[in-house]
Amino acid sequence: MFDHQFTFDEALIGHDAIEATGLPLPEATLRQLRNCDAILFGAVGHPKYDNDPTLKVRPEQGLLKMRKELGLYANLRPIKLFDELLESSSIKSEILKGSDILFFRELTGDVYFGEKGRKDGGNTAYDVMIYQRFEIERIAHKAFQAARTRKKKVTSVDKANVLESSRLWREVVQEVGKQYPDVQLEHQFVDSAAMKLIQNPRSFDVVLTGNLFGDILTDEASQIAGSMGMLASASVGDTVGLYEPIHGSAHDITGKGIANPLASILSAALLLDISFGLKKESETVIRAVEQTLKLGYRTTDIADSKTPKSKILNTRDMGQQVIDQIGLHADGNAVNKTVSISAIG
Ligand code: IPM
Ligand code: MG
Repeated sequence: MFDHQFTFDEALIGHDAIEATGLPLPEATLRQLRNCDAILFGAVGHPKYDNDPTLKVRPEQGLLKMRKELGLYANLRPIKLFDELLESSSIKSEILKGSDILFFRELTGDVYFGEKGRKDGGNTAYDVMIYQRFEIERIAHKAFQAARTRKKKVTSVDKANVLESSRLWREVVQEVGKQYPDVQLEHQFVDSAAMKLIQNPRSFDVVLTGNLFGDILTDEASQIAGSMGMLASASVGDTVGLYEPIHGSAHDITGKGIANPLASILSAALLLDISFGLKKESETVIRAVEQTLKLGYRTTDIADSKTPKSKILNTRDMGQQVIDQIGLHADGNAVNKTVSISAIG
């Protein structure tokens, strides 16, 4: 095969880290993450916290702090439909066919990181939606540059008819857009964009949006790719790149061995491409996933009424199918890299 040497380190974050150290992102984890070549992330979240809003230390704080500390301001979420999964979406296949969208979700600003708190004895709560010019500029450049390698269209999504932070967003995106006259720029309000995404997904190429709107729209857009279990993401910025499936920790299926591993595998493919420049290897992984789906293998989330029982695989067997397919397609030159794997929790 390719004969590369990868060194894998593991690090704690989220619920597991809270249980072990009291903190959702321990210093030791952060140090480890700063010293690796790329990060492959599991997921954070735990029902214990979801159902108790009074808890002050929460798994998600680990994820948000990690994004902020590592300067991972651009979250790329490619929404690409594998033809084999046309039928597993809840949207009609003639609407979906040919959809190929690349989301640029801003990841270290917005209401996620604005001032938040309670007043009036706890009876009033606030989260400030805030953006600074430079935060919008840098991700806008990334989106326009990506559009140049695609269909040359950027749809910027905001709520500029209501929000001041969105008006700054639109102003800055328009300015940056002038430097890319070969790229078509359009603006949409987030409510209308949410509707158009499922009405006519093919009308989108690159979507550029803020943190909160991007969080919501990319879950919606996962239906364009068939399932949340299929979507990979890359977070890039100032330092090391982080790769993670967009789905959460799905505790309702913990321990059952039925989770779809393809989003994680596709995240690893993005890692190979973006952080290590291993294009051919990355494509081999994506092709192996495609081939596995072509052979009819499915995890339960992407199976439909026509899937024969014998083709419905558990997590491990699905992963093994992809590995087998990689074995059939690979060849290349060796490299030496360190990947940090952060635990689920
Ligand atoms: C995501 C997730 C996170 C987010 C949660 C787990 C904090 O939903 O990566 O989309 O809201 O950013
Ligand atoms: Mg989300």
